[in-house]
Amino acid sequence: MPDDLLQAWPGQLLETLNTAVILLDDALRLTYLNPAAENLFEISRRQVSGQYWPGMLQAEKSLGDRLRGALHAQEPFTERELELHTAYGRHITVDCTVTPLSNGDLLLEIVRVDRHLRIAHEEHLLTQQRAARDLMRGMAHEIKNPLGGLRGAAQLLESELEQPELTEYTQVIIGEADRLRNLVDRMLGPNNVPDNRTVNIHQVIEHVRSLVDAEAHPGLELKREYDPSIPELQADAELLVQALLNLVRNAAQAGARCITLRSRTQRQFTIGHTRYKLVIRLDVIDDGPGIAPDMQNKIFYPMVSGRPDGTGLGLSIAQSLINQHNGIIEFTSEPGNTRFTVLLPLEVANDTS
Ligand SMILES: Nc1ncnc2c1ncn2[C@@H]1O[C@H](COP(=O)(O)OP(=O)(O)OP(=O)(O)O)[C@@H](O)[C@H]1O
Ligand SMILES: [Mg+2]
Repeated sequence: MPDDLLQAWPGQLLETLNTAVILLDDALRLTYLNPAAENLFEISRRQVSGQYWPGMLQAEKSLGDRLRGALHAQEPFTERELELHTAYGRHITVDCTVTPLSNGDLLLEIVRVDRHLRIAHEEHLLTQQRAARDLMRGMAHEIKNPLGGLRGAAQLLESELEQPELTEYTQVIIGEADRLRNLVDRMLGPNNVPDNRTVNIHQVIEHVRSLVDAEAHPGLELKREYDPSIPELQADAELLVQALLNLVRNAAQAGARCITLRSRTQRQFTIGHTRYKLVIRLDVIDDGPGIAPDMQNKIFYPMVSGRPDGTGLGLSIAQSLINQHNGIIEFTSEPGNTRFTVLLPLEVANDTS
């Protein structure tokens, strides 16, 4: 990029780019970063101006050598899949194009690539989860039909029994048939088309909050951290309540003392292959024991449960309900800090990525 352009348009051009751009002086100290770079590295330009850049991001030592080499030879280069760390210590993978400028500065354009990998991974997981759910629904249908006959026959048998003490057995059949039918109904999930209306997301969260409150988990505190400026969305409130309830209930059942319900918006967010201008982000954060590492890859699959009395359907249903709204559920978990995040799109961006 010519120097005069940089001089003339530093604010307008660079500040609006989606690509992270930074300038380093000849000692590899940061002299400029645009807002996209601030976002990517989770730093504010005021804090870091003048700092030695490779050190700040815990890059490999060889990066500093390559940057000095480019300065010396005045030759541009692109480094692929560079491993860096943000100011919060978060690990990111980036492609970085380095261009030496005639005034002795270096211009770096940085594109995050683990986000693309993450999207591919996300798509793969969603496809697998969908296939598992379809299989389960197919099975549930097959089980549901004979169950009615089984129950009816037990009732008939009961009415013909001459020894009343034998009804104990027919009652077992009827009771177990009812239990199975409830399970099968949950496996089938809601089968009506979502009834989308204008929904205030905080009414949904508050409803979930009052339901979990009424379940009386002793000593449980439910905190709210809402962003009141979130616009309304078109959604089926009942389905959102069900999805969110499954998340909050899981946290309560895992033995959390405190569950935080947080709402935020996120700009320019990609779900699957669609980029959205605005996305609602709902976090359910709990301080419980966390999800065991060997469970983490499979908790969204149906019938996977870590609880002795769990059916393992809650998360699979929640993911399916949020997918119906073009959203997704993600999570991170470690002991004392588990966070399930529901991302619900509000506005589609024009481009796709
Ligand atoms: N917040 C959490 N903390 C710890 N473990 C969790 C949390 N959320 C989910 N899990 C784990 O994931 C498993 C799967 O959850 P899911 O809601 O799908 O099924 P379930 O709760 O076992 O049964 P169901 O929801 O059908 O009654 C849980 O059994 C639990 O082991
Ligand atoms: Mg559950």
